[in-house]
Amino acid sequence: MSDRKPRVLATRLFPPAVQARLQANFDAVLNPDDVVYDADRLAQAIAGCEGLMCAAGDPVNAAAIARFPDSLRIIATFSVGYEHVDVAAATKRGIVVTNTPDVLTDATADVALLCLLGAARRAQEGIDMLRGRRWIGWAPTQLMGTHVTGKRLGILGMGRIGQAVADRARAFGMTIHYSNRKRLSPEEEKGAIFHADPEAMLPHCDFLSLNCPLTAETRKWLNQARIARLPDGAVVVNTARGPVVDDDALIAAVRSGKLASVGLDVFDGEPKLHPGYLDLPNAFLLPHMGSATLETRNAMGFRALDNLEALLLRGETPPHRVA
Ligand code: DGY
Repeated sequence: MSDRKPRVLATRLFPPAVQARLQANFDAVLNPDDVVYDADRLAQAIAGCEGLMCAAGDPVNAAAIARFPDSLRIIATFSVGYEHVDVAAATKRGIVVTNTPDVLTDATADVALLCLLGAARRAQEGIDMLRGRRWIGWAPTQLMGTHVTGKRLGILGMGRIGQAVADRARAFGMTIHYSNRKRLSPEEEKGAIFHADPEAMLPHCDFLSLNCPLTAETRKWLNQARIARLPDGAVVVNTARGPVVDDDALIAAVRSGKLASVGLDVFDGEPKLHPGYLDLPNAFLLPHMGSATLETRNAMGFRALDNLEALLLRGETPPHRVA
C-alpha cells in the first residue's frame, strides 16, 4: 500500500491546531503570505492537488473551476456559506463540495447581538468621542440611543443562526417576528410570530436582523421600497452577507433619519466597502468577524478536515457535503 499522502491546497493560513492536523494528514500546499489568490495564482497552486481547502472570499467560480486539474476531487470550504463556490460547475466536473455547518451558530449570533446593541446604543459614536479625546463628561442628553427591551425584532432567515439570535434577543426582552421559507415547529418557534411573506413582516420590525443565505432571491433584498416599509427609526443588522442589502438605499435611509442606525458585520465587495458607510457616524461596523473566536475557527477547521479526510483518506462520503 502506498503511503503517499493526498495533496491538498490550503488557500489561507488556518489556526495552529487546524494547520497541524492538515499538515499531518496531507501533503499540504500552503499559502504562507495568507493573501487571497487571484485566478492565475489559484490555477498554479492547485496543480496536482486532490483536495482544496478554501475560505469565504476565495473566488472559486466557474472560470476558476474550469482550470482545476482532473485530479481534484473535493472543494472543502472553511465556512458555512458557500456562495463563493460555483457548486454547479464543480458538480459538472465531478468535484464534491462541502461546508462547515452548525459550529459557528453561537459565535455569529453573538456578533449579531453585538451589532444590534452597538447600533441601538450608538457605541461607535461613544468610542469615537473617547478615543478622539472629545469627552468632556456625562450629560443628561448625551448619546441617547434606542431602547431594546420591549421592542420587536424581525429575523429574515430562521435557520440555526436566526434561531440563536432569537434566543439571545428574548433574553433582552424583545418580541420576535420571523420570516423563513418553512415555518418552524411550535417548539422551535418559542412564541415567535411567523410571517409567510417577508414583506408583511417589515412594518413589525423595530429591529431587523438579516440571517438568510445569499441567493439569487435574497441578493439586494433590502432595497429602498422594503426599507420604506420599516417603522421610522428602525435599526438594521446584517451578519449574513453584504449583497443582501442595497448599500445606496441603506446609506440614504440612515442619512435621512428613516433608519436610526445600522449594525453591519458583512459588506458587498468586502474587504472594500461602500465609502458612504464610513461617513455615517452612527453606523456600527465590524470587519466580518462573526465566527472569529478561536474555539469556532478551530471547530470550522476540524469540520473542513473531517470532510477532506473522509473522502481522500477513507473513500467515504464527507459528513458535510452540500453537493
Ligand atoms: C461563513 O462561514 O460563512 C462565515 O461567513 C465565515 O465567518
